[in-house]
Amino acid sequence: MPNRGKPTERIRRHHAELMERLSIMRQALDALSHGQAEKATSGLQESVHFLNDELKPHARWEEESLYPVVAELVRSYGRPTATMEVEHGILLQLFREYEKAVQDLSVATQAGQPPDEAVETVKRLGWQIDGLLSAHFSEEEEVYLELADRHMSRGDVDALLHE
Ligand SMILES: [Fe+2]
Ligand SMILES: [Fe+2]
Repeated sequence: MPNRGKPTERIRRHHAELMERLSIMRQALDALSHGQAEKATSGLQESVHFLNDELKPHARWEEESLYPVVAELVRSYGRPTATMEVEHGILLQLFREYEKAVQDLSVATQAGQPPDEAVETVKRLGWQIDGLLSAHFSEEEEVYLELADRHMSRGDVDALLHE
């Protein structure tokens, strides 16, 4: 438990708890993948309540209480682009997992009927990449490129494209 004793331990633990409780949604999605829509229904509804009742207030608390303090810390000691670089690392890891899953699926397909699990893994990773990449591009465009549009000339931006 590397985070034990850190001042932020409670926030990190809350994140872990939120992810753990999101297993309601994962299980319901698994049931859907197995064609068990009826079995999934209550878990799906519970997950909607969980997102609204727990995740929404968490995000609000971060914006109102945590982020203003973090903004000061980043100005003094951090790098504003570090979060996006962490996201690049997560995406690259997903690309590797997706490549392996696609290879496994094509081997299984050539050998006959691929197992449902291999199909589900490719689907899950593909959708994860799609979702994270679309969020990542929105973050870059709405924050970084927006700043660049306001404070850089087209010539300066074009020069970056030729580096
Ligand atoms: Fe959070
Ligand atoms: Fe990027």
